[in-house]
Amino acid sequence: MRIVNVVGARPNFVKMAPLISAMRRHSGIRPTLVHTGQHYDGPMSQQFFEELELQSPDFNVGVGSGSHAMQTAEVMRRLEPILDTLRPDLVLVVGDVNSTLAAALTAVKLHIPVAHVEAGLRSFDRAMPEEINRLLTDAISDVLFITEESGRENLLREGIAPEKIHFVGNVMIDALEAFRERWERSSIVGRLGLNDGDPYVVLTLHRPSNVDDPLSLTNFLDAFHELARQIPIVFPVHPRVKQQLLRQGYLFRTMPDSREPLHRKGIAYLDALGYLDFVALMSRARLVFTDSGGVQEETTFLGIPCLTLRDTTERPATVTHGTNRVIGTEPARIVDEALRCLDEPPRRNGPPPLWDGQAAKRIVGILVNDHTAAAAAA
Ligand code: UD1
Repeated sequence: MRIVNVVGARPNFVKMAPLISAMRRHSGIRPTLVHTGQHYDGPMSQQFFEELELQSPDFNVGVGSGSHAMQTAEVMRRLEPILDTLRPDLVLVVGDVNSTLAAALTAVKLHIPVAHVEAGLRSFDRAMPEEINRLLTDAISDVLFITEESGRENLLREGIAPEKIHFVGNVMIDALEAFRERWERSSIVGRLGLNDGDPYVVLTLHRPSNVDDPLSLTNFLDAFHELARQIPIVFPVHPRVKQQLLRQGYLFRTMPDSREPLHRKGIAYLDALGYLDFVALMSRARLVFTDSGGVQEETTFLGIPCLTLRDTTERPATVTHGTNRVIGTEPARIVDEALRCLDEPPRRNGPPPLWDGQAAKRIVGILVNDHTAAAAAA
């Protein structure tokens, strides 16, 4: 069974690593990996491949950055001849980035079946580019793997046939478990000048709605500077946000840097971190602020309190089963919510069902069974 797996952006690499590893362990599967090149900087791409032991891509079509239409169209234009030549039995896509939708659309137009891992999540906010990518990818996928039960309800409501939907757990949690020994050994906390057990907060921000407008970004940061008078904040910065912050005169530390350790207060602006350092940093934090989907899931699994800087989440299991609270984007709430959360951390209810590190194995089992059944019927 030949499967073409497509990745493009940072969270895709994390989700794909356990899948490729499970496919490689199965003698009946020949996995091919295509990188669209949506993310291309070393710390956004190559470092993830190395740390997650992800095979070098068989094809890197190098689309790079651009408007949504350009990026999506370029992935389609460059992927089509590859799929047309390889004619795989299946194209597998993960997550909700532009590359996910572009690859699914290219495959389906060539009559190649599509599997979507992390299907069915809905924020019900169509202003989010990812929501459009999720809706459209799910509508044209043949096999839909969901991470939580809300996904099934959403897909059924949208008219997806129940037999296409499989509840398998969460491959992002597979990666967290598979690489636990390595991230537990990361020295990131010491490299920041903190001692083991020192309290700190982690912040990530990259949603266009939060960072593209310089004024709302400044308002956020003013609130975080106020909070940082009480507890240090570590802020690994996405390249686009960095460009914007540099324009506004914010200074960055280059890692590792032992000359200027993180003081007991203040914000440390860091370049984007690799996977192992970032998970290690999150796992020892008192509190994480984020607008990322993956971080809401990882903190839930790690039992670290998470405050989500958005009005909605497409991952309700992180609230019902996890440590996540969706607090909106009003800067005035940031300090209050943080202090309340530090005083009285939310109790965890245990990880959501099937978030047990075995999702990739289940997915591969289902794909092989379906393929064998289809071959027998033909
Ligand atoms: C993309 C995904 C988002 C995901 C995020 C993870 C879409 C619509 N968005 O957002 O869902 O959560 O990845 O990081 O697919 N840039 C670099 N170097 C890189 C990559 C990007 O400098 O390696 C800069 C460029 O200026 C680029 C900007 O970041 O224009 C945005 O990159 P892009 O891939 O368009 O979207 P992200 O914000 O990264």
